[in-house]
Amino acid sequence: MAIIYGSAREGRLCDRLVEWVRGQMADQSMFDIELIDPRAMAPGWNAPGSREDGLSRLKMLIGEADAFVVVTPEYNHGYPAPLKEIIDAAYQEWNAKVVGFVSYGGTSGGIRAVEQLRQVFAELHVATVRDGVSVANVWDRIGADGKLVPTESIENALSRMMKQLAWWAYALRDARTATPYREIVQ
Ligand SMILES: Cc1cc2nc3c(=O)[nH]c(=O)nc-3n(C[C@H](O)[C@H](O)[C@H](O)COP(=O)(O)O)c2cc1C
Repeated sequence: MAIIYGSAREGRLCDRLVEWVRGQMADQSMFDIELIDPRAMAPGWNAPGSREDGLSRLKMLIGEADAFVVVTPEYNHGYPAPLKEIIDAAYQEWNAKVVGFVSYGGTSGGIRAVEQLRQVFAELHVATVRDGVSVANVWDRIGADGKLVPTESIENALSRMMKQLAWWAYALRDARTATPYREIVQ
């Protein structure tokens, strides 16, 4: 499973959200977790190393993961450009996989960004789970220690999302093993 950072902004709050998601997932030992960070590997985002190295590592990580959690803020009623770069860097590697969303922002909690992402992932033959986590006014949910302070409903939402993600991840992995997806996509 890979967690994808939606923001590449200097001083981003995305790190705090990813840290929380990663901690919750590690506690439940549901998945091995890799991180996909546009600051480290988005082809056009001044990531260190060559463009080819960044792209091939990105494709490898996407190809190896059975499931993804996209942790994204909302920027101007959409999702950030570096996240689109990550998504567009691969195609077949995404096919017949599953994505869940953790979004955050101002009053919207990032839900407009998520609805747009569902359309994008449909084009890549990716299933998106119904339940997700939405953190509104995210700056009010960061504690003095810099960590996310989730409400009970935020914690419950993550738990529901993770259960759905795990179901789809295992079901799709078995299905891809039984019939390679490219065989049925012409
Ligand atoms: C360029 C920009 C546009 C934003 N537009 C929205 C928006 O349309 N809706 C919203 O709820 N929050 C919006 N915000 C607030 C962000 O979601 C919030 O600042 C969040 O922390 C940004 O994520 P990051 O800190 O990880 O980069 C915007 C922030 C920025 C920097």
